[in-house]
Amino acid sequence: MPFTDQPPLDRARAAFLAHFARPPRLVAAAPGRVNLIGEHTDYNDGFVLPIAIDRRTVVCIDWSLDSTTHIHAADLNASVDLPALNSLRPDPSLSLDADAARIRTGSWVSYAAGVLANLAAALPTLAARGVDLTIASSVPLGSGLSSSASLEVAVATAAAALVGASISPRDLAALCRDAEHRFAGVPCGIMDQYIAAMGRHDHALLIACRTQAAELVAMPGADRAEVVVMDSRVKHALASGQYAERRDTCRAACRVMGIDSLRDASPELLALHAPGARSPAALSPVEHARARHIISENARTLAAAQALRAGDLEEVGRLMLASHSSLRDDYQVSCPELDTLVDLAAQVPGVFGARMTGGGFGGCAIALATPDAAERLARDIPAAYRARHTLPRGTDARVFVTTACDGARVIA
Ligand code: GLA
Repeated sequence: MPFTDQPPLDRARAAFLAHFARPPRLVAAAPGRVNLIGEHTDYNDGFVLPIAIDRRTVVCIDWSLDSTTHIHAADLNASVDLPALNSLRPDPSLSLDADAARIRTGSWVSYAAGVLANLAAALPTLAARGVDLTIASSVPLGSGLSSSASLEVAVATAAAALVGASISPRDLAALCRDAEHRFAGVPCGIMDQYIAAMGRHDHALLIACRTQAAELVAMPGADRAEVVVMDSRVKHALASGQYAERRDTCRAACRVMGIDSLRDASPELLALHAPGARSPAALSPVEHARARHIISENARTLAAAQALRAGDLEEVGRLMLASHSSLRDDYQVSCPELDTLVDLAAQVPGVFGARMTGGGFGGCAIALATPDAAERLARDIPAAYRARHTLPRGTDARVFVTTACDGARVIA
């Protein structure tokens, strides 16, 4: 998605006027996210500590005039017309346009259509009437900042408000995650949709993914530390297949250890089932390494939340670096570009810590840094990164400071 200087609100509104010849009835927005720590733990019933960021997807909406749903994605300059929303079905085959109700799994439409289909199942007026909808976003697409969850949650917030339905943020997040599973074909955890729906200004959210209980943890003041996002501008093709593979390996490790989820594993249980151990059942070396990451990452996430509460940013930074090493070595979801960004950042005085964030295999790394160090990262990282990696022509690492923001809202 191209970065333009025009805010997404203006782009989405202008697109609505241009396509539907009237202003929208409602406008909603939902943010992207970075995860401070707790990676690949959400689908293992573990702990995560994300913040919503100041990049967002904006959705303009009104009832449609002809009961067909019309969606226009301003950033892609692409449009689609959909029949009754309760007739939509995901279609994993690549056949396009065979039947307008069949939504190609993983296409850009699948994210919005999946959410609308799920909402229409609960809200019959939506299915009967259809909507006109435009989308614009400042969350860079495919950068690991949850552009998809921000799109899903923005669409859900806009459509629910249009119908006048009050859906709790937690239910909204669950509905969006279900759409991502079934329509987009991504077996994600709950973190991204949850923080897009429930983010809070100046706070991180410690989410216990098993119960979905969440606790606000105050972020340090901007005079002490800032969150710096470093976008590698690469996305390795194996990302989605590897994600599903990690989920499967974690499940296999649970079966070996006789537990329901890795949230129930401990270092002691892991030792009992170590490869080659004379226990009832031994883990393969890969299962062992994956489980070790989840167990240690859950402990680090709880410790990081505690350190953040105590204002101990050195400790938060140390845990972030340890998280990155574990993701690189045990979970093996980092890549040379992310390792470089973390290495470069960690060498700068005033950087407390750095790590990859999100699913991995490209996308973004983050650093927690003093304001001076944050400035230096923004200035120096792109050239230092370019010196180590060949990037596609015209691209460069993108480095920006972000703050913890509120979750989804109706904004007009
Ligand atoms: C992606 C998924 C999340 C989570 C992260 C890894 O962002 O959408 O649910 O699993 O990867 O922590």
